[in-house]
Amino acid sequence: MAAATPLTEADLPLPPDEFAERLLADIDAYIDEHGLAQSRFDEVLGEAEMREGLYTRIYNEITAIDLSRRMLDQLDGAENPQAFVHLLKQAEDEAKHARMLAHRLWNLGGQPEQYVERTADSTKEIWALFDGLDIVETAAVLQCGSERMAQYRHEKELVYYDEETAEIYAKVIAPEEKFHAKIGESLLRTLCVDEDTQLRALRTSREGRELIREKHDKGIRDAFKRA
Ligand SMILES: [Fe+2]
Ligand SMILES: [Fe+2]
Repeated sequence: MAAATPLTEADLPLPPDEFAERLLADIDAYIDEHGLAQSRFDEVLGEAEMREGLYTRIYNEITAIDLSRRMLDQLDGAENPQAFVHLLKQAEDEAKHARMLAHRLWNLGGQPEQYVERTADSTKEIWALFDGLDIVETAAVLQCGSERMAQYRHEKELVYYDEETAEIYAKVIAPEEKFHAKIGESLLRTLCVDEDTQLRALRTSREGRELIREKHDKGIRDAFKRA
């Protein structure tokens, strides 16, 4: 999945479709190079580990509702009626994911309402990256970055989850997250149409993925394994 020719700032501006394709190839090459699609687990998670991981996952989903909502505010709905409807669906999906995971956590004996206190600071720092980003930058880092990484990882990690949690991911969350990645891709194609937007998308994507990898390597693997 490595990009044939890495995208550089000197290449910009590009035709929007070509820009989107090359940026995505760039992101995939990065994910590949840094092992970000690899499973963090090599054995089936125990109930306590699963429970602990669910707090963070609920936090991620609830924050993703906010981000979808914020993107919606910044979108010119008259020019992008399809994207408007898609972002609304994304907000709805993220809320549903949060609700299903909270229900699962509750069934496992956890207290979903404690999701903020029980999420690692390194995870919160990743989400803080999005403060102040506009819709172009958010699409580049969220749907085309972190959601893309999560999507590849889920495909490998489901075998380590308990049956019921794995089913929620396989039947509902994974296919919907795949759709969110598509929404981000089409936002890149429709919004990154000149040098300024392409430059901002490229720079933010690069900075964002570096920070996500750093935090990911430092905290998330351990946080998820904490019993
Ligand atoms: Fe989600
Ligand atoms: Fe999502």
